Amino acid sequence: MIPAPADTGIARPETDDPAQARCPYIVVRDPDIVREVLRRPAEFSPANALVAVTPLTGRALRVLQRVRFALPPVLASNDTDTHAGIRKIVAGYFTPATVAAMEPRIRELAQEAARNAADQLARSAQVDLVQTVAAFPPAIVMLELLGLPVRDLADLKRWSLDSMELFWGWPGEARQLELAHSAADFYVWLRQLVTESVTTPGRNLFKSLAEHGLSTPEICSLGYFLLIAGQETTTQLISTTLFRLLEGSSPVAWKDAASEEGSRSIVRHVLATESSVPTWRRVAAHDTNLEGAPIPAGTEILLELSGNHLTVPAETRGSSPRTQEAQHKPPAAYGLVFGSGIRRCLGAKLAELESAIIVQETASALPRIQLRDYQPEWIRFLSFQAPRTATVTNRQG
Ligand code: HEM
Repeated sequence: MIPAPADTGIARPETDDPAQARCPYIVVRDPDIVREVLRRPAEFSPANALVAVTPLTGRALRVLQRVRFALPPVLASNDTDTHAGIRKIVAGYFTPATVAAMEPRIRELAQEAARNAADQLARSAQVDLVQTVAAFPPAIVMLELLGLPVRDLADLKRWSLDSMELFWGWPGEARQLELAHSAADFYVWLRQLVTESVTTPGRNLFKSLAEHGLSTPEICSLGYFLLIAGQETTTQLISTTLFRLLEGSSPVAWKDAASEEGSRSIVRHVLATESSVPTWRRVAAHDTNLEGAPIPAGTEILLELSGNHLTVPAETRGSSPRTQEAQHKPPAAYGLVFGSGIRRCLGAKLAELESAIIVQETASALPRIQLRDYQPEWIRFLSFQAPRTATVTNRQG
């Protein structure tokens, strides 16, 4: 472990929490330095993108090995020159024109979900907006765009959250074993879907990847990441946005979120302040340096993409850490929340469009609601966050 220089926005977290104290990462918070790391992919590799934050125990590994679960580097964790060609194939399913053409379908799904929420509210006096409006539309849209069958959605949602916890959470041994069983079930389902899809008539992503020369384990690895990243992250962004709007802590009022402009602006605000993907990892591919600090090969780096970034104005550099801590920039430029450079998120436009439409339609269909539970449980993993529920009732008076 090397000490991180205090005046660069690069730091090891200082905390009394023993779990956090074991943080093995150098944390980069300054948006300019985050951007620099992302723009130097040869030195700061994404090879650790899918490495389990909590090392897998022998028992959990055996559960995964029994189904031949494997995540060879294909897309998000691929630092070789095959990345560009594979990315191009995936990008072909999310072109700006394809995403724009999907807008009426997204609106239809959003309206249907909001109507269901209103019906449920009328029947039972309360409704959880995470389950009724945020959970399923992003999964349906993603599967339709990829040319894959829309099926087993409830399983897909459960597997996604379980896999996020297995790879980005801090499960104890017993919980890890449960999560490993869930990931194994997901993987078996996925391999079946891949096998089927490569011979199905018509265009679909898995067939395109097979035609590009990818093996079944490689397609499964890409599918495992994409089927989670391509929908659960959006569900979580919608969940946080709805919760903050209803909590009354956001700069946009609930009634204003019913307009196109209001919903877009609140989604951008939540992305900048507490995105569903608040951090992402890199690892130093060889000895290098960052802002003058030596970074040995193998150093793991945690990039803060969203939130309240610490910054150190030039005039206070070299002063005490306490003085520096007092200096905070406004939340990071929204521009970093989907990454930057050759690996920038391929679903950025889609995620924003879906979130804004779902928030807008929900606020339109349910104008007179209030939160029932102001302190829900939150998903808090290394790189994912959102309230697990946003339960509402009709507004009194
Ligand atoms: C709110 C929703 C989302 C957020 C905050 C988000 C954020 C991110 C971030 C931070 C990365 C890592 C970028 C890097 O390594 O430099 C990423 C990668 C990626 N995302 Fe997203 N994402 C979201 C939704 C989506 C959706 C809806 C899709 C597709 C349907 C998607 C597809 C991808 C892909 C394919 C990559 C890997 C790109 C590559 O390695 O070349 N994401 N995303």
